[in-house]
Amino acid sequence: MTETQALVARMYKDDAGRPIYLTGGQDDIFSAIAQKRAPRLHIMCHTRYGKSMSAGLAVLTRAASFPEKWAIIAGNKDKAGIIMSVVNAHIFDNDFTKSRFIPEKGDDWEEIRRFRNKNHITFKIADGQYSEIFIGSAKDALGFGAPNILEDESALINDTDHSLVMRMLGDNPVDNFLCKIGNPFARNHFLASFHDPAYLKIVWDCYQSLKEGVRMTQQVIDENRRYVFFKILYECLFPSASEMDESGWMYLVTDVDIEAAQLRQVQPYGMRRLGHDVARGGRNYNAWVLRTDSHAEVVGKDLEADLIKTGDKTMELAKKYNVMASEIFIDDGGVGGGEVDYLASKGCKVTKVNFGSSAEKEAVEVDNVLHPGSTKKQAQTEYANARAEMYAGRDGMAVWLRSIGKLEPHADWSQLTQIRYRKNSSGMTVIEPKEDMRKRGVESPDVADALALTFAKVKNVVYHDIDPATILAGGVKPFFPGMPG
Ligand SMILES: Nc1ncnc2c1ncn2[C@@H]1O[C@H](COP(=O)(O)OP(=O)(O)OP(=O)(O)O)[C@@H](O)[C@H]1O
Ligand SMILES: [Mg+2]
Repeated sequence: MTETQALVARMYKDDAGRPIYLTGGQDDIFSAIAQKRAPRLHIMCHTRYGKSMSAGLAVLTRAASFPEKWAIIAGNKDKAGIIMSVVNAHIFDNDFTKSRFIPEKGDDWEEIRRFRNKNHITFKIADGQYSEIFIGSAKDALGFGAPNILEDESALINDTDHSLVMRMLGDNPVDNFLCKIGNPFARNHFLASFHDPAYLKIVWDCYQSLKEGVRMTQQVIDENRRYVFFKILYECLFPSASEMDESGWMYLVTDVDIEAAQLRQVQPYGMRRLGHDVARGGRNYNAWVLRTDSHAEVVGKDLEADLIKTGDKTMELAKKYNVMASEIFIDDGGVGGGEVDYLASKGCKVTKVNFGSSAEKEAVEVDNVLHPGSTKKQAQTEYANARAEMYAGRDGMAVWLRSIGKLEPHADWSQLTQIRYRKNSSGMTVIEPKEDMRKRGVESPDVADALALTFAKVKNVVYHDIDPATILAGGVKPFFPGMPG
């Protein structure tokens, strides 16, 4: 065990009161920051490696030891809050940091430890010597004037904001310190510092963790290999200039992926779903895509503007291909809503999807170290909206198409090669909006959207105060005219 590993194990505890043992790579991160091994650091490790935790403990230890001002900056305040919550959680783990902490009026230790929402912390090092840790945006930090800066998810801080950080450091030309931590989400200042010899680099990819046998397994790698952010999040590799533009946009699937999916030989199996993108008038098309677990086929495309006729066609196709009403997915936004209502009036209750609505939140076990003592589950999502999850989700369209999906050959599948994705400043996955595609001269991706709709997650309806009498009184009704069942 190194000196710093021993220090951390002695000073800090997890929720069960056990000492925190840093792994070798985490110790590298901790000591590089806590000992300020170089004035410029660039740290890139695979996701969930423990970057934020190691950095948080390092800043806490440093600020409780030396009278220094530290600013933690990220793409937005929530992201910066991750490191600050580590600081909040561990101030009271030991007498050293605890005794130097200066409470503000109304501060309560238990509450700080529990809620971790203090954005500004002060320590007294000696008479007249204080240190501070503060979180905020680049602009906030400029006002604060901290010579020590830690950027978390640094690649999600845009170049303009990052230049404010550099300006602030320039105000303290002697003894300033910058640590950039993140995943290579964009080809911006984060790529520049990666290539800059002035930066000390700590890079730790999933294969290194696998070799060490800590914080990574072959199973996790295999399960995530087809995930659209695998290269960035696990292999710690910047996308090439041909894969990503300056704003961070990347293409979701390539023509090679589509070619391979069209050549794939599989039998259709599993539930049948019908995805339907409704034309928005003008030169826009209605599109219908039939998908099973293993294959997808364009089964309809026309320019019909009449919603009644279009609704009738949806019912015809569902009948022809044996699709249950609940397995028909229609974007409910805009004109699609009209067709959904018409279908409902005919007894065909389709599944409404709203591309713009929030993605399905997963109940995630709340982190132990970040939230000691908590066994609660928290609703979290990494997608900006449902459309992003359908296209780029861990079990969305792109992963399916690259791994098992067979596409029945059709010229319009090429629309899929125009769909772009990236992370926004909050670290959420977004798909390029259709209006922005139009500005690039790309027409509405109707067939692509119809396919994506078949990946919609059906939100479970939770009933409160269940009254069996009300529910059972309705009896069984045929849910769809002419349908089996
Ligand atoms: N040595 C350790 N001991 C106990 N818990 C740990 C250790 N290392 C990491 N963890 C826990 O693992 C989780 C992931 O750590 P952290 O959030 O710091 O990872 P990260 O590399 O910043 O990931 P992300 O890619 O999500 O930003 C946290 O709950 C953290 O407390
Ligand atoms: Mg992190």
